[in-house]
Amino acid sequence: MILVVGATGMLGGEVCRQLTVKGETVRALVRPTSEPVKVAALKQLGIEIVAGDLRDPASLAQACRGVSAVITTVSSMPFSYVPGENDIRTTDTDGAAGLIAAARAAGVSHFVYTSFSRNIDDPFPLRDAKRATETILRTSGMRYTILRPSCFMEVWLTPAVGFDAAGAKVTIYGTGEAGISYIAVPDVATFAVRSLETPAAWNVALELGGPSAVSQAEAVRLFERVAGRSFEITHVPMEALAAQYEAATDPMQRSFAGLMRCVANGDPIDMSGTLQAIPARLTGVEEFAERVLGAVPAHV
Ligand SMILES: NC(=O)c1ccc[n+]([C@@H]2O[C@H](COP(=O)([O-])OP(=O)(O)OC[C@H]3O[C@@H](n4cnc5c(N)ncnc54)[C@H](OP(=O)(O)O)[C@@H]3O)[C@@H](O)[C@H]2O)c1
Repeated sequence: MILVVGATGMLGGEVCRQLTVKGETVRALVRPTSEPVKVAALKQLGIEIVAGDLRDPASLAQACRGVSAVITTVSSMPFSYVPGENDIRTTDTDGAAGLIAAARAAGVSHFVYTSFSRNIDDPFPLRDAKRATETILRTSGMRYTILRPSCFMEVWLTPAVGFDAAGAKVTIYGTGEAGISYIAVPDVATFAVRSLETPAAWNVALELGGPSAVSQAEAVRLFERVAGRSFEITHVPMEALAAQYEAATDPMQRSFAGLMRCVANGDPIDMSGTLQAIPARLTGVEEFAERVLGAVPAHV
C-alpha cells in the first residue's frame, strides 16, 4: 500500500494515476475541504480515500497504518493561495515533520518528499521549510528520496504567472536570459513513482529538470513559433523583484517574491546522471507549447 499525500494537487494526482497504471494499491489522504470533483476522480481510479490534514497528527497516524511507502507532494502554497486558509509553518514545516514522524512510527520503509531545486536558494520561508524537512527526513532512519524539481511548465508557462500564450501576452521576470530547466508535471511524477524501485534513487536528492535549460526569452520564442504570431512582452526588472522581496512581510508573499527572484536568476539542471539511473523521456518546452496551443485557434 502506497500513501499519497497531496493527491488532489497537480503533481499528487498524476502520481496517483501513474501508480494505479502500474497496478499499485494506493491510499490518498484528502482534506475535508478538498474539491469533491478531485476526490471523486481519485475514487474512480480505485484509490482508497482517507480523511486528514498535515496539521492534524492523529489523522496522519491513521493514514500511515499498513503503508509501505509514502509520497508527499503537499505544499501550502498553491498559486491560487487564499490568505489565512493554510500556512507555511503549520503545513510545510510542522505538518511535514509530523508526517515523517507518523510514517516512521508506522514502520513505513520508503518516504518520498517533494522539495524544489537546489538553485532556489535565497532565504525565504518556503525554501527554509523545504530544506529543514529534507534534513529531518535524511536523519529519520527511513529510506528516502528527495525530489528537487525545477519550475513546472504547468505553472511557470501558464497565465498563473503571467505567461498567457493563448492571449499572446507574457511577463518576463528579470532579463529573461537565464536558463531554466522547466519540467512537465507528469515527468516529475514518473521520477517519484520510479524512485520506489530504483536503488540509485534511494537516500539521495534528485535534482529534476526538463531535457535542456531554456531561458524565459527562448520559451517565448518557442511559443511564438508554435502560435505563428508575436507575443506582447512585459518585463519586470530585477530591481523591482528585489524591492518586492524586501518589502514583503507576510511569509507567503515573501516566498512568492523569493521564488520569482530565483526563477529570474535561472535554474539550469543537468539531467545526464539522473537519466542514466532512471531512463525517462522528458517533455520539452516546444512540445508543451504545442500541447497548450493545440486547442487554440491561431490569430484569435
Ligand atoms: N510549481 C512549481 O513550479 C514547483 C517546482 C518545484 C517543486 N514544487 C513543489 O511540488 C509540489 C507539488 O506541487 P503542486 O503544483 O502539485 O501543488 P498543488 O497542486 O497546489 O497541490 C497541493 C496539494 O497539497 C494539499 N495540501 C495543502 N495543504 C495541506 C494540508 N495542510 N494537509 C494535507 N494536504 C494539504 C492540497 O490539498 P487540497 O486539495 O485539499 O488543497 C493539494 O492536494 C509542492 O510541494 C511544490 O512546492 C513546485
